[in-house]
Amino acid sequence: MLSVQNQIVLITGASSGIGAACAKVFANAGAKLILAARRLERLQELVELSDTTSVQYHLLQLDVSDRSAVESAISTLPPAWSDIDILINNAGLSRGLDKLHEGDIQDWEEMIDTNIKGLLYLTRYVVPGMVSRARGHVVNIGSIAGHQTYPNGNVYCGTKAAVRAISEGLKQDLLGTPIRVSSVDPGMVETEFSEVRFHGDSDRAKKVYQGVTPLTPDDVADVIFFCVTRPSHVNINEVVLMPVDQASATLVNRRT
Ligand SMILES: NC(=O)c1ccc[n+]([C@@H]2O[C@H](COP(=O)([O-])OP(=O)(O)OC[C@H]3O[C@@H](n4cnc5c(N)ncnc54)[C@H](OP(=O)(O)O)[C@@H]3O)[C@@H](O)[C@H]2O)c1
Repeated sequence: MLSVQNQIVLITGASSGIGAACAKVFANAGAKLILAARRLERLQELVELSDTTSVQYHLLQLDVSDRSAVESAISTLPPAWSDIDILINNAGLSRGLDKLHEGDIQDWEEMIDTNIKGLLYLTRYVVPGMVSRARGHVVNIGSIAGHQTYPNGNVYCGTKAAVRAISEGLKQDLLGTPIRVSSVDPGMVETEFSEVRFHGDSDRAKKVYQGVTPLTPDDVADVIFFCVTRPSHVNINEVVLMPVDQASATLVNRRT
């Protein structure tokens, strides 16, 4: 097993859900963490709640969909933080659940700008350093939605299918380097995801998980940690994980 002790790990979308769970797992393993999200106060809370006092953190208030902000955040990292070893492209969201021909175009733009373009910007600005140092691992958080389109999921599913293709392409383009690329693609995970999808309608969000035992953010963080800690000649290309109560994007066992 490869150690992540003192490795510099950049996690986007670390203020909630899967990203925050990754921060905990990697902190416990002695990594140095760059945590990025738009809600800086949530990142600060996460650090304050951390029971691992020896962990070094660098917080970035960053909107991944803002190309010049990403470029500037990466190019102005203090020297002690600039040699990123592991990039976890986790920031992402769904907005709305509507028929395509009735969808909200603003929702589409937000998903495309965050899930596809944000992930691309981070990758474009971080990976050249990995190539020149001849070390690194990129973990993209995809989704079961990138494998199967579900009714009304149209654009979100499209963004995650794009993430899947981008992960595959990045792996091909990095062939001949030691840089690893993994895509971790969960099914249903209980986070703020559904609340964001339904624009803060928490009753509707709760219904998504009703009668089901979903994955927890920690379950997904465990899998990400597994991918990263394999021996350096092993590349886990893609992991699809879902709760036992789920068999596909649309088949869910509800006990109510
Ligand atoms: N929950 C699920 O069922 C599920 C299933 C499959 C895949 N996923 C994927 O897992 C990833 C994490 O989602 P989650 O379930 O953990 O949801 P979450 O609890 O809503 O967390 C999403 C994170 O992304 C960040 N984010 C969103 N837009 C951003 C932007 N423009 N710039 C920077 N950060 C941004 C949010 O931080 P700020 O709001 O503070 O910026 C937050 O930290 C996403 O890519 C999602 O598509 C989730």
